[in-house]
Amino acid sequence: MAELIGGLGTSHVPSIGVALDRGLRDTPDWKPFFDGYIPGQKWVQDKKPDIAVVIFNDHGNSFFLDRIPTFAVGAAATYNPIDEAWGKRDIAPFEGAVDFSWHFIDKLVERHFDPLICQEIEVDHGLQVPMELFWGRPERWPVKVVPIWVNTIQYPIPTPQRCWDMGVVLREAIETWPTDERVVILGTGGLSHQLQGARAGFLNREADLAWLEGIATDPQKYRDMTREDYVEQFGSEGAELIMWLVMRGAMDADVELIMKHYHAPASMTGAGMVVLENHA
Ligand code: DHB
Ligand code: FE
Repeated sequence: MAELIGGLGTSHVPSIGVALDRGLRDTPDWKPFFDGYIPGQKWVQDKKPDIAVVIFNDHGNSFFLDRIPTFAVGAAATYNPIDEAWGKRDIAPFEGAVDFSWHFIDKLVERHFDPLICQEIEVDHGLQVPMELFWGRPERWPVKVVPIWVNTIQYPIPTPQRCWDMGVVLREAIETWPTDERVVILGTGGLSHQLQGARAGFLNREADLAWLEGIATDPQKYRDMTREDYVEQFGSEGAELIMWLVMRGAMDADVELIMKHYHAPASMTGAGMVVLENHA
């Protein structure tokens, strides 16, 4: 059976990718942020996953407000990085784990989820940036990907509990996948930020730091919170954090917090990451 080797949580702020494009990695503003990911990069190098399941939201690039699925899953052979008007980025296309994607989609439908199935679609910074943060800029990505898009843009967004439930199905799909492939799950988005309205620029360091611990030790707290609680604590766009619950729901109840990193602000956003492993 395939093996779940761990869960990663990370921000996907677009300016992180732009900073790399412009050679700003080692400038005083950015170096402390990027250096915090070095242990995470070592972790993926050591663990050698074959498949990365990446949960993220599209930001008006592949879907717009005219049509937006609550959940979508990729089943494409290739996902090209979309140009978000910063110019063409010098990063490799992402190869899809097509067979596992279909197996997962089948499990989802069996468990009464109804995802949009995407065989032709591009991926925005929500997937690009996490991949760059953990794998750098390889000529060819060493993992195949399964993108999962969650609507965190157009209300009503899914509940935190629903995201968790999808993670439970993802775990079941991994455990019933008859290969020896090694799977890592990346929950992305956040941390606290608000890009619009009266609270634009809102950042909540205390809630962010509690999240980076609590996602490991007390996820029940975050499952029980309402979507409005997320907006209040993390900002209107910080509510993206519900997507980390897909990753957390796929992990064991008891996990080890292998590492965490926090930096604020990266752009206008509280940014950071965790690496989680099951105990067994
Ligand atoms: C920004 C955009 C994002 O999608 C995000 O997760 C954080 C910040 C931004 O435009 O600054
Ligand atoms: Fe985002």
